[in-house]
Parts: sequence; C-alpha cells; structure tokens
Amino acid sequence: MKNLSSEEFQQNETLGTIDKRHSTRFFANKEVDDKDIILLLNAANKAPSAHNQQSWKFIVIKDQKKKDLAALIANRATDFPRTSAVLLRMASRSISSAPVVIAVANTGELIDHGRDLFQIDEVDSDLFFRTMEIQSSSAAVQNLLLAATSIELSTVWLGVMYLIKDEVLELLEEPKGEFMAIVPVGYPEKPGSSPKKRPVDLIIKQLN
Ligand SMILES: Cc1cc2nc3c(=O)[nH]c(=O)nc-3n(C[C@H](O)[C@H](O)[C@H](O)COP(=O)(O)O)c2cc1C
Repeated sequence: MKNLSSEEFQQNETLGTIDKRHSTRFFANKEVDDKDIILLLNAANKAPSAHNQQSWKFIVIKDQKKKDLAALIANRATDFPRTSAVLLRMASRSISSAPVVIAVANTGELIDHGRDLFQIDEVDSDLFFRTMEIQSSSAAVQNLLLAATSIELSTVWLGVMYLIKDEVLELLEEPKGEFMAIVPVGYPEKPGSSPKKRPVDLIIKQLN
C-alpha cells in the first residue's frame, strides 16, 4: 500500500491538518487568544465518547498555577531514574515556555454508568469502562491537537506526568480524576516537523 505524500494530503483541509500536526516542545513568548482556547475546548468536546458519557474534564492552566505545575514536575524529576527524569524535566520546560496549558482528566462517570448499565462483575466492568474512558478522552485530545494545528497553534501531548499523577491531580484540584494528558499550547519557538512514521505497509494487514 502506497504512502501518501504531503501534496496528496493537501486534497482537503482536514487531511492537510492531519499531515501538518506535529509535537512542539518549546514555545515562543507569545500569548494565545482566549477565543482560540475556547475553540480548542469546543473541538475537544465534539469527540465521540463511549455511551456519549463525555467523561472528560479540561483544566486550563495559566500564570501562577502553570509555574507551580512546572516546578512540581521539575522537583519530582530528581526522584526518578535517568530516562524518566529527563522526560519529566523536558515536560516541565515545555509547560514553562507555553503561555497556556490544558490538562485532561477522566471523571469516572462512564465507569459508574457502565457498572449499573451492564450489571457485570465489578472488576471486569471497571477495566472495561476505564479503558473506554481513556479511549474517549484520547479522541478528545486528538481533536484538540488537530484544531490547534488548524489555527496555526502548536501542542504536545505530555503523558510522562503519569509517574506523579496523584500530585499533579491534587495541584489541579481534581483529586478524584484520572490523569489523561497535559497539553501545552502556544506558538512554536521555531518551525518543526514530526519524526518519520513507519510505512503504512508495515501496519496494515488486508483480509479478503
Ligand atoms: C499518549 C502519549 C503520551 C505522550 N507523552 C509524551 C511525553 O511525556 N513527553 C513528550 O515529549 N512527548 C510525549 N508524547 C508525544 C510523542 O512523543 C509524539 O507524538 C511522537 O514522538 C510522534 O511525534 P509527532 O507528535 O510530532 O508526530 C506523547 C504522545 C502520546 C500520544
């Protein structure tokens, strides 16, 4: 199966945006308009979700709270082995440099709803609906990333803070939430691109 070129992705705006999106870890010292943040959150909220439970919460973080989050992550990095410490420090720097950060937490609503609805064993039901919550929120995060790209904003999906998720959720005043993602949003410090993706041939199996 053939890999599409960037030119071929340009056949419509959505495909062009998908092709253009890439992670940005360092941001220019330039504010993001509140109306753009509202647009990103609305795009996220349009995502599909299991049983339409929309079991996600978005926390917009700026100013002092953003500094506190970056400091927490940098301080806790010293407690981890090298690779995770490097990733945590890098995440802290991304958060510091971005003018705004959006955290995503799962609410657990789908887990509660599903347990009652399906009346299956509690352990199975927790795993099933927890997975579905993560999948639903992942769709919302991807909507957010693509919406950002479509209006020339840059993002990175940060997951490494899972290592200190309880402290992060506490700081975000969401102690009962489940950590999903932290997404710094801003304008890139310099132009960038995605790392090379595997050829589609390697990820596809066709069955007739
Ligand atoms: C679930 C998830 C977690 C991620 N966590 C991190 C992270 O903690 N730190 C980071 O720098 N990038 C993180 N990334 C971004 C990936 O490194 C990035 O998407 C990948 O290298 C492909 O690059 P691209 O986004 O430019 O296509 C994460 C991405 C996903 C989907």
